[in-house]
Amino acid sequence: MSTKTVLLTGASGFIALHTLDQLLKRNYTVIGTVRSQDKADNITVQFKKEYPSAQLTFAIVEDIGASGAFNKVFQDHPEIEGVLHTASPFSFGLNKDFKDAYFTPATEGTKNVLEAIQNYGKNVKNVVVTSSNAAVANADKVGDKTFIHTEETWNPITWDDVDNELKAYIASKKLAEKLAWEFVAEQKPLWKLTTVNPTLVWGPQKFESSLANKTLNTSAEAINKLLSSDPNDTHFFDKPIGTSIDVRDVALLHVLPLENENVSGKRLYPIQDEFNGQRILNIINRNFPELESKIAKGSLDGADKHAEENTIYYDTSKTLEWTGIKSWIPLEETVKDSVRQILDYRSKH
Ligand SMILES: *[C@@H]1O[C@H](CO)[C@@H](O)[C@H](O)[C@H]1NC(C)=O
Ligand SMILES: *[C@@H]1O[C@H](CO)[C@@H](O)[C@H](O)[C@H]1NC(C)=O
Ligand SMILES: *[C@@H]1O[C@H](CO)[C@@H](O)[C@H](O)[C@H]1NC(C)=O
Ligand SMILES: *[C@@H]1O[C@H](CO)[C@@H](O)[C@H](O)[C@H]1NC(C)=O
Ligand SMILES: *[C@@H]1O[C@H](CO)[C@@H](O)[C@H](O)[C@H]1NC(C)=O
Ligand SMILES: *[C@@H]1O[C@H](CO)[C@@H](O)[C@H](O)[C@H]1NC(C)=O
Repeated sequence: MSTKTVLLTGASGFIALHTLDQLLKRNYTVIGTVRSQDKADNITVQFKKEYPSAQLTFAIVEDIGASGAFNKVFQDHPEIEGVLHTASPFSFGLNKDFKDAYFTPATEGTKNVLEAIQNYGKNVKNVVVTSSNAAVANADKVGDKTFIHTEETWNPITWDDVDNELKAYIASKKLAEKLAWEFVAEQKPLWKLTTVNPTLVWGPQKFESSLANKTLNTSAEAINKLLSSDPNDTHFFDKPIGTSIDVRDVALLHVLPLENENVSGKRLYPIQDEFNGQRILNIINRNFPELESKIAKGSLDGADKHAEENTIYYDTSKTLEWTGIKSWIPLEETVKDSVRQILDYRSKH
């Protein structure tokens, strides 16, 4: 039985709730950080149903961007051995310049965690930071079969390239990860840094109550939109488009570095497949005959070819080898589980 204490920042997020699930399943003692006591209470109630003897407590960190934000939690808990930093900034501010709105919050949170660990985290052995495919993918190489994205690839974007909101977001994600690796190169800490660089993350919510919101977060919303598509719509659903990974695999990647030296210290790059709206629709229609004539069929042909032509090319075999994971959860299963959860929830409410 493991009694290692792990700090999980941003514990209420989509990836974090699944990560918390895996930690509790493995008997870790977990300290979560969230922005409010209300959130902490809700998460505790929900997990205690599943794991009555869960060792789970919370620390409230209202603004991860505030200097010294994490000092107290490390001062109070010198027993922390693992840190999983999934928190992203509270809100990317509107009506601010790109640097204030994206760069500062993205980089300050990471900096604050790493500095607090250096100053007070005497027993920390592993730090895992949730980064992003945005720090890997080179937008100029979409459709280029000769350019293979791997664990070693870095998006070449610099802050000088930023001339719109999307690029500001992407550059900030990249620079926040770079800051973490540079911190390690300069400070040579005793702990190991691992980053997880997922592409679009989807899959079921850990708790279906997260589906209560009219507008769901990110990927769940993409599936939700297809579920409310017009049944007479026969156009080819070329959007959304991208590469994806199942949230449960992403959660596992956050935990494995705590347990396996082959994984810690690495940049982990998981991708299950490429998708477009039509591919997702085809999966839904194939698996949920009860939706016949309730949602669009779109234009059945060419979904796979279209997805392939519009993808980045990638190779995630190193991540599979290090982790010992045999294969990523397939897109079909991810979509099926997400849709089933949404339909179940709707039938009850
Ligand atoms: C966690 O603890 C429970 C209860 O003590 C035990 O039954 C279970 O085998 C443990 N699981 C792991 C992965 O150690
Ligand atoms: C959904 O997004 C909101 C606002 O960003 C966040 O507070 C909440 O934790 C998210 N919920 C899940 C399940 O991801
Ligand atoms: C906490 O749970 C209650 C009841 O389920 C809900 O009404 C409330 O909005 C939740 N609060 C947060 C912050 O999620
Ligand atoms: C629901 O959406 C609101 C507004 O986006 C957000 O503040 C809240 O955290 C969301 N609740 C959940 C449980 O994700
Ligand atoms: C779809 O087309 C049929 C036949 O033209 C029509 O009866 C029906 O109202 C249409 N449904 C929607 C949702 O537009
Ligand atoms: C780490 O990798 C080595 C070499 O591939 C392998 O023999 C060993 O079993 C791996 N360790 C774990 C914990 O998976």
